[in-house]
Amino acid sequence: MSDTPKNIMITGGAGFIGSHVVRLFVTKYPESTIVNVDKLTYAGNLANLKDIENASNYKFYKADIADIDEMRKIISENKITGVIHLAAESHVDRSIKDPFTFARTNVMGTLSLLQAAKEYWESLPDKFENKLFYHISTDEVYGALELTNPEGVKAPFTTKASASDHTAFGVDFFTEETKYNPHSPYSASKASSDHFVRAYHDTYGLPTIVTNCSNNYGPYQFPEKLIPLFINNIMQNRPLPVYGKGENVRDWLFVEDHARAIDLIFHKGKPGDTYNIGGFNEWKNIDLIKVLIRTVDRLTGKPEGSSEHLITYVTDRLGHDMRYAIDSRKLQSELGWEPSLQFEEGIEKTVKWYLDNKEWVDNVTSGDYEKYYDKMYGDR
Ligand code: NAD
Ligand code: TYD
Repeated sequence: MSDTPKNIMITGGAGFIGSHVVRLFVTKYPESTIVNVDKLTYAGNLANLKDIENASNYKFYKADIADIDEMRKIISENKITGVIHLAAESHVDRSIKDPFTFARTNVMGTLSLLQAAKEYWESLPDKFENKLFYHISTDEVYGALELTNPEGVKAPFTTKASASDHTAFGVDFFTEETKYNPHSPYSASKASSDHFVRAYHDTYGLPTIVTNCSNNYGPYQFPEKLIPLFINNIMQNRPLPVYGKGENVRDWLFVEDHARAIDLIFHKGKPGDTYNIGGFNEWKNIDLIKVLIRTVDRLTGKPEGSSEHLITYVTDRLGHDMRYAIDSRKLQSELGWEPSLQFEEGIEKTVKWYLDNKEWVDNVTSGDYEKYYDKMYGDR
C-alpha cells in the first residue's frame, strides 16, 4: 500500500500479537486511524493496550468478526482502507477439546470479514485501488517436519542455525511453496481461512496478502501457551507439564519482530503474495524449558536449575506435530526484514516482563480461566 494516511482496521488487537501490532501502528502512524475490533474472549484483554488507549488516532469496537452486519457497519463507518486480520482462536489444545469454536471464528469469521471488506471497497469509486486485506496466519498449516533427514542427520537445533546450515544438513523446512497439510483442528481452521483469503484474491481480485509465522513469544502472551505458562508455573513452584518426551521442536520468534514484519509487509508487500516469517531459531521443547528454568531461577535469586524438579512428563498431546521450521529467506531478500533480537535476549526480556507484571498474570488467570486450568491439567 502507498504511504498516504489510512484508516486501518486491526482485528484481534486486544490479544497477544494484535496488541503489539496496534501499539506499533498507533505510535508510528499518527496520521492514520487505527480501529481495533475484538470480541474480548478469554484471550482478549484491554489492559494490554493501557498505554495507548487514549491516543487520538485509536478507536476500539467490541465486536465478533463472525457478525457480518457489524463488520459491514464498522468498515463503512470508519472508511477502512486496510485490514490487518489477527482475530482468531489460537490455542491447539483448546481446538482439540472444542473444534467448532475454531471453525466458527477462524473460518466463518474470516469469511465474514472478507465479504464485508469486498462489498465496501467495491462500492467506492476507486474500488480495490490502494486497499489491502492482510491475513495473519501460522506455519502450522504446512503440517509437521521430521526431526532428521532420510539419512538420520539431525537438524542443528538450539544452535544459531541459518538457512545454509539447514541446507548443509539436508533437513527440510517450510517454504512458501510447501503444500498445506494441517493436522490439528486449529491448523485446519487456519488453513481453511488462508484458502478463503486466496479465493477472494483469485476470484474477485481482492488485494490480499497472507503471512505464515512461526511460534511467537514475549510480553502479554496468555499463560496457556508453553513459554508464559512455564514461566508462571516456575514462579509459583507448580509442575511443568511436558507433553510426551519433550522432543518436539518449535521455531521461536520474539513478538515485536513479528509486529515489525507485519508493518513492513503491510506497506511494502505484494498483493496476492505469501510471505513466511521466522527467525531460524529452532528449539527442542525440553532444551527450551531448561533455558526458561535457568533464567527464572537466576532472576528470582534461586540456584540456577534448582526448579528442574518441577518438570513433569505427561501424556502427549493428540496428533502432536513433531517439528516446525520456517524458511523466511523470501521476506529477508525481497523486503530486507531481519529479526532484531537474539533468542537469549528475547527470553531474558520476556521472563523479566512476567516477573514485573504478576498482577497482569493474576488478572487473566483468575475466575473462569482457573476452572479451565484445573480441567486441563488437574487430572495429570
Ligand atoms: P490470541 O489468542 O492471544 O488473541 C486472539 C484475539 O482475537 C483475542 O484478543 C480475542 O479476543 C480475539 N478474538 C477471538 N475470537 C474473536 C471473534 N470471533 N471476533 C473478534 N475477536 C476475536 O492470539 P495470538 O497469539 O495473538 O494470535 C493472533 C493471530 O496470529 C492468530 O490469527 C494466530 O493464528 C496467528 N499466529 C499466532 C502465532 C503465535 O505463536 N501466537 C504464530 C503465528 C500466527
Ligand atoms: P504451544 O505454546 O501450545 O504452541 P503450538 O502448539 O502452537 O506450537 O506449545 C509449544 C510446544 O510445547 C508444543 O510442542 C507443545 C508443547 N507444550 C508442552 O509440552 N506442555 C504444555 O503445557 C504446553 C502448553 C505445550
